[in-house]
Amino acid sequence: MSGATRVVGHSLPRLDAPGKVTGSAVYAADFALPGMLYGKVFRSREPHARLVRLDTSRAAAIAGVRAVIAAADVPDVRYGAAVKDEPVFAPDIVRYVGQPVAAVAAVTLEAAEAALAAIEAVYEPLAPVLDLAAALAPGAPLVHEGWQAYTAIPILQRDGNVCNRARIVVGDVERGWAEADRVFEHRFTTAMVHQGYTEPRAAVAAWDSSGQVTVWSNTQLPFDVQATLADILAIAPSKIRVIVPGVGGGFGGKLRVGVEHFAALLARKAGRPVKVMTTSEEELTAAYPRQGTVIELKTGVTRDGRLTARQGRIYFDTGAFAGSGPGVASVATLVLAGPYRTPNLHLEGYAVYTNKTNCGSYRAPSGPQANFAVESQMDIIADALGIDPLELRLRNIVREGDEGPTGQVLSAVGLEECLRRAAEAIGWRDRRPGPGRGKGLAIGWWTTTGGSSGVYVKINPDGTVALNTGAVEIGTAALTGAAQVLAEALGVDLTDITVVSGDTFATPFDFGAQGSRTAFAVGNACRAAAAELQRKLFAQAAAQLGAAEETLELRDKHVVGPNGRISLAELARQSQLAGGGMIAHGTFIAPGTAYDTKRVEGHVYPAFHSPSFHAHAVDLSVDGETGEVTIHKYVVAQDVGFALNPTYVEGQIEGGVAQGLGQTLSEEIVYRDGRVLNANLTDYKMPTTLDVPRVESILVEHPGRVGPFGAKGVGEPPNVEPPAAVANAIAAAVGTRITSLPITAEKIVLGQNGGAR
Ligand code: MOS
Repeated sequence: MSGATRVVGHSLPRLDAPGKVTGSAVYAADFALPGMLYGKVFRSREPHARLVRLDTSRAAAIAGVRAVIAAADVPDVRYGAAVKDEPVFAPDIVRYVGQPVAAVAAVTLEAAEAALAAIEAVYEPLAPVLDLAAALAPGAPLVHEGWQAYTAIPILQRDGNVCNRARIVVGDVERGWAEADRVFEHRFTTAMVHQGYTEPRAAVAAWDSSGQVTVWSNTQLPFDVQATLADILAIAPSKIRVIVPGVGGGFGGKLRVGVEHFAALLARKAGRPVKVMTTSEEELTAAYPRQGTVIELKTGVTRDGRLTARQGRIYFDTGAFAGSGPGVASVATLVLAGPYRTPNLHLEGYAVYTNKTNCGSYRAPSGPQANFAVESQMDIIADALGIDPLELRLRNIVREGDEGPTGQVLSAVGLEECLRRAAEAIGWRDRRPGPGRGKGLAIGWWTTTGGSSGVYVKINPDGTVALNTGAVEIGTAALTGAAQVLAEALGVDLTDITVVSGDTFATPFDFGAQGSRTAFAVGNACRAAAAELQRKLFAQAAAQLGAAEETLELRDKHVVGPNGRISLAELARQSQLAGGGMIAHGTFIAPGTAYDTKRVEGHVYPAFHSPSFHAHAVDLSVDGETGEVTIHKYVVAQDVGFALNPTYVEGQIEGGVAQGLGQTLSEEIVYRDGRVLNANLTDYKMPTTLDVPRVESILVEHPGRVGPFGAKGVGEPPNVEPPAAVANAIAAAVGTRITSLPITAEKIVLGQNGGAR
């Protein structure tokens, strides 16, 4: 397809590159206003306790302190996505170490920090719920005694510490066990991990005399933050303007309000703009990391390797509030099914409250955890049956026209091609090339999230094009991808397009930078706007060119007819003088994906729209003495539908693998007795450039029916398979099967899964 296109499908430089490489781009963390105060949050030091006394008087008396606020000073509301269970400040009970209890604003950061140190809080400890086992034990203490009184979306299946149980049931697993020659049961565990974005969460808030507040934030979802702030501030959303300057990475960690509400509340109290920005310690104790999980997986197979049934339960340690947990638990059930044909399924995802920080969404939420279990077990089954792992997968994978687990009909399924090409590129025929060396495979599928997107597109009187979108550029180059779609449709160059984005007052609604949807949805909205502009341009040009509208086309920045042409610049000038300007509003929402409603319960994400399919393959060595893993080669074959910009698609793949390898080999937020032991970037071990291998990307293109030029979401998928691919390669290399993440050198040397909970 790219041969016939001028702009899409080509690796053109991203529009936001100059500011980012020269350092002139302003991120939210850089943003400042004259007279701005610095806000800091006072946080609980107890995992579960009654707050019996809070004394902020000494803090308020410190020189330079302009505001001190706690629960009594803010609207008595609880907010949340699926369950409204979270207060701004703990009013009486604290539920995790790090929960906000009060906040201060002062003229300097030092004065704000001194004020925090002067706040006195006295707690009366309550029995903490420290992990999943404790939360799920019969008679366990409740993290929320009053959980039934919270407002929640009605389909959730809640019970005590379980804030949702999502379920998929297909066929009858009992029949499946009876048909199986072998039944395999395993338990897997995964650790809590942080998204590791470069820029901390940051917000500046300023109120004007009309009672309107403007918040500059690095959120991925400005419209969602606007709505949540309306709940928290108890004012109309139309009084809240959220503007997103540059975002230094989000990966799902910047979906929900983080510091915006503290900035707004402190600014309202102080009557001055306030900036709040998190520290590394706050990020690692009080952000929205990926949930740790326990996964129980039972799979039946025939002697020749045909899957007959699967029963899976995945428990998410969602922390003190529901947050994204109910949704993530739902998505997990689709991942547990795998991209496999399995006639009988009983899959459950549980979001479980504990006294830890509220976990959230992290690039392919639930994907790495559930896929680790599924794809590790596939290799265990292959070994037990004496079938090559590649062959076992080929016998069971979904193909064109198959049903997904909830009955959606799958199309544009490039999975077999991904699997065969990844295996070929890694040299699969020689799976154990030497002592301590082995190769591993893992496959998966992922969604392209729907939700609506709107754009305004204006042709300027100089012939350039303004793209105005409510979406947010979080670093992926997705808005460059969307702009490429627009340039292609209008017959202009990518460099003719300027982008204004992420402003709840100035840009049309967008569902936000989440779920691998931005280039897909904004690109389609651009196509709609371009079609509307074409109608207007042709109507205006037809008489001047003496040609019927049907004979016109858009080419080379001109409307071209049989006997002449007229430039977009000229048409825009004419329209600006006589017709209000050459402007269109383009919108898009992904059509619903049909599924069998009888198969699901408590489910908030029952189908994967325009799903992508992928295969990862890795070749590594394990040092027999130290357990150190060295990756020689890492290959990803990903069905991206159509690569709008191959360079940035590859960038997403490389970044997703790097992040995935961190979760696989070294990263873990370690809790003991409800406290994080490694809340700093020395002891929380993210990979650096020196640790990340070169990644070979193979872009497979089975065009989807909905996305622009067939594109599917590409941002999240590469984060899904690294844990399983690496675990399988380690097992091939040294015969040690590690079933808990991270797969540290210690676990490999000891040949066991010690330390995991
Ligand atoms: Mo994502 S985890 O939907 O930013």
